[in-house]
Amino acid sequence: MSETLTLRRPDDWHLHLRDGAILDAVLAHSARDFARATVMPNLSPPVVTAAQAGAYRDRIMAALPEGADFTPLMTLYLTEQTEPADVAAAHAAGLIAAVKLYPAGATTNSASGVRDFDRIAPVLDCMAEAGIPLCVHGEVTDPEIDIFDREAVFIDRVLDPIRRAHPELRVVMEHITTREAADYVRSAGAGLAATITAHHLVINRNHILAGGIRPHYYCLPVAKREAHRLALREAATGGDPRFFLGTDSAPHPDAAKESACGCAGCFTAPVALPVLAHVFEEAGALERLEGFAALHGAAFYRMAPNAATLTLTRDESPLPPPGRVETRDGPVTVFDPGFALHWRVARE
Ligand code: DOR
Ligand code: ZN
Repeated sequence: MSETLTLRRPDDWHLHLRDGAILDAVLAHSARDFARATVMPNLSPPVVTAAQAGAYRDRIMAALPEGADFTPLMTLYLTEQTEPADVAAAHAAGLIAAVKLYPAGATTNSASGVRDFDRIAPVLDCMAEAGIPLCVHGEVTDPEIDIFDREAVFIDRVLDPIRRAHPELRVVMEHITTREAADYVRSAGAGLAATITAHHLVINRNHILAGGIRPHYYCLPVAKREAHRLALREAATGGDPRFFLGTDSAPHPDAAKESACGCAGCFTAPVALPVLAHVFEEAGALERLEGFAALHGAAFYRMAPNAATLTLTRDESPLPPPGRVETRDGPVTVFDPGFALHWRVARE
């Protein structure tokens, strides 16, 4: 008899679906396991207006497989030119769930992001008043700062000053990778939360660099040393509602990753739930997986949890190794946690 675990259908509060050929190939993997996902706006060109967000949502809906039960929650890409009234209108119309702040140059397609944080003060005031969450890519871009320190420095130099200047602003620190970030979230009130990916719960920087360079483990923020991974595990599995799942599943064609200057991003959507079940089981916290994957995020976003359920089963025989997803732009390698996955999502 295999062991089973039934939970409310999970949501993914941070997802890259891309567009065109990649969207067509990857969407089904998220739609199968997740009821809703916060869709990142870092397309090229970025999703900066409500009209662009609406058109992108339509393309996602058109790419959904027949019968899928999946709602994309759209976001706007914050620039120094973003008009407060446009954001408020898009939110009031139900078109967007959040606004995404990329420091300019921090990551994939972030060139149109923010350089001078003072220039976004009016839009942040407006978002605070309307209760619109700000999703933050929390890394400084200062070339003087070591890449492994960029998240911790961002908290002191950028995030904390923003939160002090806009105390009512609701903020999600995205894909946290450090003990400092987890501690900072714990030290704050209910207006600050953090997403944690599945991959940052199972890899540290050795996975990327020891014994050969492994581009499919390279993402941003980059995985840190083991002590940080353990701090993230504690945050994710500990039951604190301020921590919830955002996979940051970020597909790139293999040719773009396996290159002299490879792109950042781990494509985790097909294995995110089996990996999480493994982590929560190892932590003796399987009963808390539902909170992390299906309840805490919805509560922060002031949405009802999903009514439908999803069942995971633990089988003696492991899942086949993750492999690749074929797309019209070439294959995309699926994140391989490096150990056998015994949990799987039960399919009807
Ligand atoms: O690894 C990452 N990939 N981090 C990001 O912040 C962006 C993402 C992407 O879009 O590829
Ligand atoms: Zn991301």
